[in-house]
Amino acid sequence: MKTLPVPDKRDPGPGLATLVAEGPLVRVKMPVIGEMPFVTTHAACEMLLKDDTLFSTDVVNGRNRRIAWFLRLMPRNVRVMTENMLQKDGEEHRRLRKIVDAAFRRKAVETWTPRIEALAAGLLNDWAASEDGDFVRHVARPLPLAVICEILGLSEADRPNFTRWMAAFSQTDSIWALPRVYASLTRINQYLMARFEERRRESGDDLISVLVHAAEDGDRLTDDEVLAMLGLLFIAGHETTTHIISNSVLTLLNNPSELDRLQADPALEGTAMDELLRHVSAVETTKPRYFLRDTEFLGEPFTRGQAIMAHLAAANRDPEMFDDPDRVDLGRKPNRHLAFGGGPHFCLGAWLAKAELAAVLQLLWKRWPDVALAVSQDDLHWTGQAGIRALRTLPLTPSPLGGM
Ligand code: HEM
Repeated sequence: MKTLPVPDKRDPGPGLATLVAEGPLVRVKMPVIGEMPFVTTHAACEMLLKDDTLFSTDVVNGRNRRIAWFLRLMPRNVRVMTENMLQKDGEEHRRLRKIVDAAFRRKAVETWTPRIEALAAGLLNDWAASEDGDFVRHVARPLPLAVICEILGLSEADRPNFTRWMAAFSQTDSIWALPRVYASLTRINQYLMARFEERRRESGDDLISVLVHAAEDGDRLTDDEVLAMLGLLFIAGHETTTHIISNSVLTLLNNPSELDRLQADPALEGTAMDELLRHVSAVETTKPRYFLRDTEFLGEPFTRGQAIMAHLAAANRDPEMFDDPDRVDLGRKPNRHLAFGGGPHFCLGAWLAKAELAAVLQLLWKRWPDVALAVSQDDLHWTGQAGIRALRTLPLTPSPLGGM
């Protein structure tokens, strides 16, 4: 198995092509995590994600001693977070997912669309009026947070605090950032515990009320499970959407003929969202999977508990699956991208993320058709976060004609 570097965040195409060509199994040197085996082709990623008889996302079932030991050293409020559905297998996973599934289905998300558009319009106005023009700061970061806060029923007045606490999660380039993450998690947990005590006393029609009152066969969620669920919804639903929005805007600016095509034919919106998700691949890798038994996999021996990950960004540029994979083709069909993962842990928030992305792109170009980069491409920078393609800032100018 070859060891390869992490692909460049600015221009990942060549690095991703190497991961696929050297695949399906390679080692990648990841920041913070260290060297890790990865599957990189589309077929191998699908195999890994769908086979829950061989792979577990639960460190306890996977019996990875090193990670289990590491988790035991963590403060309790961090350990609690591992009670979330993404780190549970089989029946336990299905039980947790079923409770929130309905709230994130396509139909439910459609009822939120007018509110998402209103929130996006307000933030776009803030961005257009801002001095720095930073699209990440004024739109891409606050929108997903505002949306998830509203779905959960958290007050608007608390949002600045939340924004501050959540900022710690976007600065995880090194192990030294971890104490700040723990401190933020403690604050978030305390805040949420107080909210769900309130909802226990007086129920509303928000998702926190659904969670604290959810009972299946008389089996209520424990406080730890509710906390872990909320933590996952915030972390999985916030950062990811921020980065798909900012990178998609940049991708469209860098592909003006595709942007023209989309503006001339709004019916392309559905395929366009999927193509941006594929091409950007903001979530570059999945969480680790642990082998459930000693076995040979793709010609290599593995022991029970060993970790392996799927490189979704590489799979999304696999030429066996996608013609001319580095090209942005907003009409691409079929487009079986893996930007949202696959198998039992397929992203719960896929429809919500697409609705947020569509709202921002539509409103931005409708109102400011001449929006442009306010800095040179060389002045754009991505963070070094493992497995995430995150633009630090995206300074844009609304319109040289003053179309505000
Ligand atoms: C463009 C934005 C998003 C991307 C690219 C994305 C990507 C992903 C991926 C790749 C996974 C699977 C991880 C794995 O298998 O290890 C996942 C799972 C998940 N995502 Fe998303 N996500 C996005 C937005 C959201 C949103 C908005 C929410 C909810 C508010 C959300 C909630 C979740 C949850 C709860 C899971 C775990 C599902 C399970 O274990 O059954 N995501 N996401």
